[in-house]
Parts: sequence; structure tokens; C-alpha cells
Amino acid sequence: MVKISVSVLSKNDHETIDKLNKTDIDFFHIDVMDGKFVNKTNFSIPKIKEVHELAEKNLDVHLMVENPGNYIDQLYFPKIEYITIHYETLNNDLTLFEKIKSNGIKCGLSVKPSTDIRDIFYLLDNLDLVLVMSVEPGYGGQSFIESSFDKVRLLKEEIIKRNLKTIISIDGGINSTNAKSCIEAGCDMLVSGTYIINSDDLKVTIDSLKKV
Ligand code: DX5
Ligand code: ZN
Repeated sequence: MVKISVSVLSKNDHETIDKLNKTDIDFFHIDVMDGKFVNKTNFSIPKIKEVHELAEKNLDVHLMVENPGNYIDQLYFPKIEYITIHYETLNNDLTLFEKIKSNGIKCGLSVKPSTDIRDIFYLLDNLDLVLVMSVEPGYGGQSFIESSFDKVRLLKEEIIKRNLKTIISIDGGINSTNAKSCIEAGCDMLVSGTYIINSDDLKVTIDSLKKV
């Protein structure tokens, strides 16, 4: 079944994390922003530590930062399962993947909407996860970019052709109207923020993404 990673960018207080702990979600998605790669700044390391302590699910950390290398060593907490960095900040420095893995954490690579997904195919052997951005990185609450489906399909085809175990996650504007198509296109994980966080009934909302 598809995994759900809830983005707690807009709301991450004790009560929210507690409520989400009691649901069927699989991960907490943590959006780290440095004010350079994207305009906003968010999720300092102490804040991640705080959420980590409250979380009863593993963390899926999305580094929207210019220099991911500066963060990886500080993100060494047991419940961090994935660290995802951006292809656009990689500068072909494959040691970043090694750095993540040497801490026993799974390694993800994210692509912005304007990046051709085929550009990352040569890196797939190194990756546990590819995060397809279905909105411009930087803000929650934006509308899903429809061309993301084609990207996911192309990527899935390549993963299958090469018999890889890399999973596909998608991030931005995910809700019940596009979840089914994302899964059909090949997504293994859906990141959803606004749609889940703003709902009155977490269980019904999460089920509407999972059980489509
Ligand atoms: C956008 C972030 C997303 C965002 C998703 O830059 O990477 O994780 O919080 O939020 P929604 O679901 O509101 O688009
Ligand atoms: Zn994200």
C-alpha cells in the first residue's frame, strides 16, 4: 500500500504531532529551508529534534538548502529514515549520498518541476528514493502541477527496466483528487501537507489518500 508522509511545515506543535501519531500515517515529512535555495527559512535542527522526540513515526527529511552537506551530519537521529537532497544543489558531489548512508539513513534525491527527470537516471543506483516535486519548492498550499504524472511514469519505467528498489515519492498539492493518479503513475509514497493538516477528520482524510 502507498505510504503517507505528512508535511508538518505549517503546523508542528505538540498537539498536532500527538494527533498525527495516533493515525495511520507512515512518516513525518520535515521541510528544511535555508532562505537561499528557497525564500523561506524553516525547521532549525533543535526544532527537528523536538518533533523527533514527540514523533511515533519515522521522519522523512527534505533538505531544500543550498549546501546540504552542512546539514547531513547534524541530522543523525534514530528515527530519521530518509534524508532527501535536491539534484539542483548536488554539483555532482556523490559523496553526499555516502555521507547520508554512512549514518545508516536512506538516501533520497529530489527534482524541481523544471528539471528533466532523465537528468537523474545516471544516479539511480545510489538512491533509495526519488522525490518528485509537484509544486515549486518553498511553500505549502500550492496547486499540483499536472505534468508531474509524466515524470513519475518515465521514472517508474526506468526503475523497473533496471530492476532497482528505488521508491518514488511525490510532494506538493497532493489531495484526494490526484492521489489515485499518482499511485497509478507509479508513486510509492505521497507527501501531503495542507490537505491533511487542515482537515477536521484526520482518519477520513488520510484514508482518502491511502485507500483509493
Ligand atoms: C513544498 C514542500 C512540501 C509542502 C507540501 O516546498 O516541500 O512538503 O509542505 O505541502 P502541500 O501538501 O500543502 O503542498
Ligand atoms: Zn517537502
